[in-house]
Amino acid sequence: MLVHLGRIVNHKMLGKYALPAFNTSDLEMTQGIVRAAKKLKAPVIIQTSVGALEYAGIEQLVGIIKTEAHESPTPIALHQDHCHDFKLIKKLIDLGYSSVMLDASHLSYKDNLKLTKAVVAYAHKRGVWVQAELGRILGNEDWQTVKSGEDLMTDPDQAAKFVAETRIDTLAVAVGSLHGIPVDPRIKKVLSTLKEHVDLKRLKAIRAKVKIPLVMHGASGVPDAQIRVAIKMGVAVFNIDTDLRVAFNKALRDNIKKYPQVYDPRKLLKPATDALQAMAEKKIKLMGGSGKAKGFK
Ligand code: G3H
Ligand code: ZN
Repeated sequence: MLVHLGRIVNHKMLGKYALPAFNTSDLEMTQGIVRAAKKLKAPVIIQTSVGALEYAGIEQLVGIIKTEAHESPTPIALHQDHCHDFKLIKKLIDLGYSSVMLDASHLSYKDNLKLTKAVVAYAHKRGVWVQAELGRILGNEDWQTVKSGEDLMTDPDQAAKFVAETRIDTLAVAVGSLHGIPVDPRIKKVLSTLKEHVDLKRLKAIRAKVKIPLVMHGASGVPDAQIRVAIKMGVAVFNIDTDLRVAFNKALRDNIKKYPQVYDPRKLLKPATDALQAMAEKKIKLMGGSGKAKGFK
């Protein structure tokens, strides 16, 4: 069933378990995610990026997700990932998203604050949650201006002030996790300035001052042990995209190689979807989400 994100992300779960927010861009990814959630009786978040909406078409992709979610016995929330565009956010709210991420982290603090406040006012009037980002999560961002990993991190005091002023519902924290697999030498150079993958001390300091659910982006590459500690520190949502893609693509490549005579795309896509489902199950179990949809109405 399609539910509001606020029904599956709440204060009761903080410190105990977390939910994955899985990115999707097509039918196969969506089916793999929904099947994993159903099998493990777990609530999950499905999110779209701007790129995914461009790839599949907005109505088309939203239609696939909503149909799969409606037919699922487990609660599924629809969230928009990193979005700079207020106009697009308005359109997605009209289409039934219960949560949107305004990513204005590339702006100055003052401008980020101003735009976030405007989006929150608009979204809250319509019962929709807003996620914002403070600091800059390493990955697909402007690497020319980045000198060290520390430069990008969320400042705990600033985060507390930002949350109080904007009244956002969830906060994406920059604590060292990064988007995707780092190949760019500039990214590698910045990463080498970090002491450990995720700065758990900083996360603890943020948690002490920020009481709303925290979101960790770029969670694919974060070691399992750090995910477990981060959950105890109040991270409620982990964004996962790369690990799903890698699992899907590996199975797809292997099968194309193994069965060069197969010309029916369904025969190649099915094992890839199964591999993605297995990865989604692994993440749900890691975050303690199994069984949490039991009795949900
Ligand atoms: O917003 C999406 C993500 O933060 C996903 O990051 O591709 O590293 O899992 P990832
Ligand atoms: Zn992200």
